[in-house]
Amino acid sequence: MKNILITGGAGFIGSNFIHRLIKEKPEVKLVNLDALTYAGNLDNLKSLEGNDHYTFIKGDIGNQALVESLLLKHEIDTIVNFAAETHVDRSILGPIQFLNTNVVGTGCLLEAARKTWRGRGSDSVRFHHISTDEVFGSLAPNDPPFSESSQYSPNSPYSASKAASDHLVRAYYHTYGLPITISNCTNNYGPYQFPEKLIPLMIMNCLKGKPLPVYGDGRQIRDWLYVEDHCEAIQLILEKGRVGETYLIGGENQPTNLEIIHQITAILDEIVPNSPFRPHANLIQYVQDRPGHDRRYAMDISKIRGEFGWSPTYTLQRGLRATIEWYLSHQDWIKALVEKEEFGSWMKNNYANRGDAK
Ligand code: NAD
Ligand code: TYD
Repeated sequence: MKNILITGGAGFIGSNFIHRLIKEKPEVKLVNLDALTYAGNLDNLKSLEGNDHYTFIKGDIGNQALVESLLLKHEIDTIVNFAAETHVDRSILGPIQFLNTNVVGTGCLLEAARKTWRGRGSDSVRFHHISTDEVFGSLAPNDPPFSESSQYSPNSPYSASKAASDHLVRAYYHTYGLPITISNCTNNYGPYQFPEKLIPLMIMNCLKGKPLPVYGDGRQIRDWLYVEDHCEAIQLILEKGRVGETYLIGGENQPTNLEIIHQITAILDEIVPNSPFRPHANLIQYVQDRPGHDRRYAMDISKIRGEFGWSPTYTLQRGLRATIEWYLSHQDWIKALVEKEEFGSWMKNNYANRGDAK
């Protein structure tokens, strides 16, 4: 691992991963290829300007010729593919872009790697694909958690497109011998998450005294992982993961959405004692549910724990507090995003016609 191509590195998890690697492995050279969609934000990487071990390239993973030229020019030996369309609600309102980026884009990236790395084995190159627990579908209350042998059963256009990309990555290993690994992770949260996702949206709306929109009954269950823990797990897979293998990564907690929101409002009540919107829980508003909304996700992380001794280091309480403190001290970062016209029109599209569920 000397020269790494990170795709989607201007997004939430990718930018956290870049910050981690620059600190942990100062000898490696990083190239960040990102199309800068609405979710890509170069402010996430400002501190790296001028760092000669870091190069940013604006471009699409679906541009195979561009990817091939980058692989050759920068003598890339490792690709970590974060680039994707990632928001389930957006996939419901506009699925085709999800197919373009997550399926065709990943296909082009794989094809560029196959052509450029022809004849090179797992001792010298690696393609790591970042995926999600959502590819496995929805669990009933008493079902055991997902494991590496769970059947794929995606329910949203987002998870279906991620499932397709996982299958392509696996097929390139079996058909062409491309040295790949895949990781499927649960919901992440932490610094630099785009404020359309549940946790940053709730924090932001609390600070502004806006309603906290809870889909349906709010009793859907997610497994939440602090982003730093996810980035540590990815690094371990790159260093120690067995080629051709999938690793599940999770936070080992399964709160309902309502529990998460109540934890956020309670922390804000405590650390912003002079807020005019206290108690923040009064801002909760039940709205029409997401169509096809998965009820529950949970992960069995015995494989990654057994092979590398990895487990999450942040409890949910500690991670939420760290996240809230980060957003409180980065209000200019949020302001720059939410003042964009695109953000306003997204909020209108997704929430204006949802109404009050009660
Ligand atoms: P994000 O939406 O914050 O960022 C995605 C990044 O990809 C953006 O910078 C965007 O500009 C870039 N991008 C989009 N299309 C591109 C294209 N065609 N070419 C190049 N760049 C492109 O996403 P995230 O939350 O950081 O997620 C990163 C990866 O992790 C995704 O593959 C996602 O499926 C996966 N994942 C996310 C979570 C989560 O909770 N956020 C959980 C599990 C897995
Ligand atoms: P989200 O952050 O969109 O992640 P995902 O759908 O990929 O799990 O949503 C997390 C959960 O929060 C999910 O069950 C949907 C719910 N949710 C709301 O109740 N209200 C909201 O405004 C949003 C964005 C999500």
